[in-house]
Amino acid sequence: MSRSEAPAEIESKPGATKPDPILKVSGLVRQFGGLKAVDVEHLEIERNKITALIGPNGAGKTTFFNLITGFDQPNAGEWTYNGHPMKALGPHQMAKQGMVRTFQLTKSLSKLTVIENMKLGAANQVGESLGKALLPFTWKKQEAEIERRADALLDRFNMSHMRSEFAASLSGGQRKLLEMARALMAEPEIVMLDEPMAGVNPALTQELLGHVKELREEGRTIVFVEHDMDVVRDISDWVVVMAQGQIIAEGTHAEIGANQEVIDAYLGRHHDEEMSSDKAQESGTESFSQSEPDENSGLEKESNDE
Ligand SMILES: Nc1ncnc2c1ncn2[C@@H]1O[C@H](COP(=O)(O)OP(=O)(O)O)[C@@H](O)[C@H]1O
Ligand SMILES: [Mg+2]
Repeated sequence: MSRSEAPAEIESKPGATKPDPILKVSGLVRQFGGLKAVDVEHLEIERNKITALIGPNGAGKTTFFNLITGFDQPNAGEWTYNGHPMKALGPHQMAKQGMVRTFQLTKSLSKLTVIENMKLGAANQVGESLGKALLPFTWKKQEAEIERRADALLDRFNMSHMRSEFAASLSGGQRKLLEMARALMAEPEIVMLDEPMAGVNPALTQELLGHVKELREEGRTIVFVEHDMDVVRDISDWVVVMAQGQIIAEGTHAEIGANQEVIDAYLGRHHDEEMSSDKAQESGTESFSQSEPDENSGLEKESNDE
């Protein structure tokens, strides 16, 4: 349990400095027309911890992930990863540097098999360069090594029996597992998971949570977006709260649960549901747990029906 206690020296406030940040973000802005979807003054992510990124729908969590991992470009701002500026890099280069992400809507290619999806996760390492194509021996050796790693990960994620199934035939939860396993093919140092538990049944959620904790045991850093406050409490070392593009709070789960600004940000949107929810009655710290799936995770649940 002590493992998940954040070090006492980290202040519970937006933009708090961390003893050993793997990621440092400054002045990050992404505007869509007149809307500032992301407006992060300062954020540091502590190395080898599990950080939960929470906030109401439309807070800018996915956009923030997109920016940091090179899938979208900011209007302003910069960030460093292991002290190196990252701004100009695209997703492939980010992955090579050790930063990978998964998507709120799973991106497994349904017309490919599970093992083929896994191998694609290593595509960044093989490279698609002409040089490699001209060296079939090197390529074959690398291909065999990639397949060996893919099979080892499938085994770890209890998916070996689905190795040759098309991704389309997997349940929503299995697809989430596949996506996490595939992200590990890039041997990332930091893994950013966008709603990894959305649309996943309770049994598989426990399994996924176990895998996330394992990633930390292996020394990786995890940032994940999650709405379920039980999940956040269970696995997070640190919680970052976003609302309207900004970081409005940071702290341990307990600190965040007692933060009036956070409660207001949630209740502002979910007042009616929360008042009638069982969880809100059980405990004050649960009062900002989200009972409504957002538009996107709603789609996810439909398309990934277990
Ligand atoms: N490509 C886009 N074009 C225009 N608006 C967008 C785009 N992507 C996101 N937004 C808007 O930016 C805000 C933040 O969205 P998002 O990052 O998906 O929030 P979250 O993941 O926290 O629910 C929302 O108001 C959303 O409608
Ligand atoms: Mg989102």
